[in-house]
Amino acid sequence: MSKPESSPSSVLRARRSGSLRGTCRVPGDKSVSHRALLFGALCDGAVEIHGLGEGGDNRSTARALEALGVAIRLDGTEAEVKGVGFAGLRAATGALDCGNSGTTIRMMTGLLAGRPFETTLEGDASLTKRPMRRLAEPLRQMGAVIDGRLDPARPGDVFPPLRVRGGSLTGLRYDLPVASAQLKSALVLAGLQAKGRTDLREPAQSRDHTERMLRFLGAPITADAATNTIVVDPTGWGGRLRAMPITVPGDLSSATFLLVAALTVDGSDVVVENVGLNPTRTGALDALAAMGAELVVEQTGEAMGEPVGRVRARARRLRGTRIDGTLALRAIDEIPALAVAAALAEGTTIFADLKELRIKESDRIAALARELTRAGVKVEERPDGLVVEGLGGRAPTGGVVRPEHDHRIAMAGVVLGLSAPDETSTPAEDIATSFPSFADTLRALGAPLTGG
Ligand code: S3P
Repeated sequence: MSKPESSPSSVLRARRSGSLRGTCRVPGDKSVSHRALLFGALCDGAVEIHGLGEGGDNRSTARALEALGVAIRLDGTEAEVKGVGFAGLRAATGALDCGNSGTTIRMMTGLLAGRPFETTLEGDASLTKRPMRRLAEPLRQMGAVIDGRLDPARPGDVFPPLRVRGGSLTGLRYDLPVASAQLKSALVLAGLQAKGRTDLREPAQSRDHTERMLRFLGAPITADAATNTIVVDPTGWGGRLRAMPITVPGDLSSATFLLVAALTVDGSDVVVENVGLNPTRTGALDALAAMGAELVVEQTGEAMGEPVGRVRARARRLRGTRIDGTLALRAIDEIPALAVAAALAEGTTIFADLKELRIKESDRIAALARELTRAGVKVEERPDGLVVEGLGGRAPTGGVVRPEHDHRIAMAGVVLGLSAPDETSTPAEDIATSFPSFADTLRALGAPLTGG
């Protein structure tokens, strides 16, 4: 399997855009695609996946599964995974390369915690900085042996490369210290292989794609959204999921960049079709509505328990708002796009309760403060968020975006650049992590982008 095409030196250039118009689609949802591949491998036969995300992160999950002996046929957005069940996974001959993908390393670690062999999981420079104690601790309590790199600058935590020596696990009652779907999903995967039942409780509900998909595939899991609890009880279960075709909806996280572009470029009118509308993910739509956005959201169907639909955005002067609490959690990956909306809005937007943003693909609070300041926006950086004074009709300035290998910071820089009279240039290679067709999609809507 080859990596998505990107040249390390590609630069995407943006400048002030005329109106964006048209109907478009976005690649398959990254979170759902990871789960389709991984759970597909645990099924009792071949699983067809339609609409698979084509970004680098999803490729990392596919490659890691192949290294564990799972046959995967990949043809663009179509895939076939030959499910082998938990017991069919084989020890990899080398380390699993999880690339830039936190979801890959965390879900794989939970899966491998229950396998009777040793695996090393590694990743790129960004992944190597991401904290894993939150995962290692409960998995150790369940019986796995997990070692990682220690960093004297961040004592008490553990970082990739991780070495996982799996074995017989016992179920656990565990209150997650943070609302995290990666952590929750890893513990569910371990719980499915454990003796006895595992009870998990989150402080607030993170995205629930794992629960929805696993229920469809016949896993012994129940979830209660009212109490943010999940019970996994594999007693008497055969250890294999039921193979069935999986359709992945478009990625709302990618779509949000296009919607913010449409809302902030005068005269625009854009429809994004076939996009996932899972309510644990739609915080950005609610936040934009609170900013005065004219959005028309219409559910058109459902795919494996995931609502799917279309969103229409028409340009409108936005106003500042407050994004915090569960709204912030439901928009966690969309904060870079929302920060652009805030930068171009009238008035102040307060982003709070977003400490987790400091440990994403980059420290997104610092990165957004840096990039908005560069563009002439007044920003206050806080430990858990940002205060952004919107330009309210004044233009941002262009310049050189420094995304530091964070795809969403790169895309935010480009979307802001569509309102700047002078040129904005952005290193483009990392955009392929989640949205390889980002530049082409914006161009098709009329954006004057060059390169990329
Ligand atoms: C994801 C969960 C979130 C999100 C990430 C994808 C997932 O991370 O930010 O982009 O697919 O489970 P956390 O689990 O760290 O909150």
